[in-house]
Amino acid sequence: MIKPYGSDELNPLFVYDSEEHHKLAAEAEGLPSLLLNSAAAANAVMLGAGYFNPLTGYMNLADALSVAENLHTTDGLFWPVPVVNRTDDIDAIKGAKRIALRDPNVEGHPVLAIQDVEAIEEVSEEQVATMCGQIFATEDKAHPGVATFSGLGRYVISGPIQVLNFSYFQQDFPDTFRTAVEIRNEITERGWKKVVAFQTRNPMHRAHEELCKMALEAVDADGVLIHMLLGQLKPGDIPAPVRDAAIRKMVELYFPANTVMITGYGFDMLYAGPREAVLHALFRQNSGCTHFIVGRDHAGVGDYYGAFDAQTIFDERVPAGALDIEIFKADHTAYSKKLNRVVMMRDAEDHTMDDFVILSGTKVRAKLAAGEDLPKEFARPEVAKILMEHYQSEG
Ligand code: ADX
Repeated sequence: MIKPYGSDELNPLFVYDSEEHHKLAAEAEGLPSLLLNSAAAANAVMLGAGYFNPLTGYMNLADALSVAENLHTTDGLFWPVPVVNRTDDIDAIKGAKRIALRDPNVEGHPVLAIQDVEAIEEVSEEQVATMCGQIFATEDKAHPGVATFSGLGRYVISGPIQVLNFSYFQQDFPDTFRTAVEIRNEITERGWKKVVAFQTRNPMHRAHEELCKMALEAVDADGVLIHMLLGQLKPGDIPAPVRDAAIRKMVELYFPANTVMITGYGFDMLYAGPREAVLHALFRQNSGCTHFIVGRDHAGVGDYYGAFDAQTIFDERVPAGALDIEIFKADHTAYSKKLNRVVMMRDAEDHTMDDFVILSGTKVRAKLAAGEDLPKEFARPEVAKILMEHYQSEG
């Protein structure tokens, strides 16, 4: 199986030993505690699940600045996006060596992890703005990722963590949430050698479906890992339970049996386009996948990124050999009215844009909100029905 990123063995930061777990949970109740923001909680879940191997905790300011600027920690580890725990309020944890990190996304704020505090450093507004420009290619606060990152807090609390649970993800998505460890195990059980990963934060339409099928065939893979984001999204994006149901229906009806693993991970969407695509690739390698699909405007939002910036970054900013996972670069994919099937535009040279059925996300939402059916060339009817029910129940 493909090696994890950055080490020979995967080192998830979740405490699997039950005795140790029990001891830490008891210790946590007596520690000074910090209520995390959702971004830091999501980082803890990813670290716990092994997705962010080989990191051992939250980065300090120097590493965050260095990663934002040149995609490497100060020690030279390639990493695309700062993994930080920031807060505005350090009163309760001043001077503490060990702190309990409390979960903002679960009622009662239970302890999510314990952190050894190595440093508490102040980050200036200028440094935050500079990092935004580097990570998101814009400092515009209208960008949802910039808005979130800018508001994470003045202090950077760095140090290793031990993770005690996976927040709300296991309970809310028992059939879908998986750790990188579990995915690796399942790939081994299935005997798959070549596995293509597909990132998604949307219900899957026909273009998404076909991308998976094209990649499966092109790389001659044993299966595809549909790996959906289960964490927080910007307003207007479709909630995870609805996407999950739509994806399950599509796989049930339109994929050959035993070619797909439907899974999800507990992370908030960054909308960081190219940088996020690299992070996505890295944590699919940690999940045991050999290939990763990057299509049009991957992890994008609005007009902040060029349609294929998330592909070129792999040539321009990822050092050769840094990642073992291979990128399957997909062109804009859509239904061709001439050929009566979904194609990649680069394979349909004689077509003009009018020959394709293309619907923007805004258009899709408007149609569903108005109770209008989506064209069957764009979405499978059974998938469209699930989305329609969601939109209509929203009022
Ligand atoms: S993302 O934010 O998770 O990237 P989405 O779920 O829409 O959003 O996309 C998942 C993957 O499919 C990404 O790699 C994206 O680039 C790709 N993709 C989505 N729609 C198309 C399309 N019409 N043509 C080519 N690639 C696409």
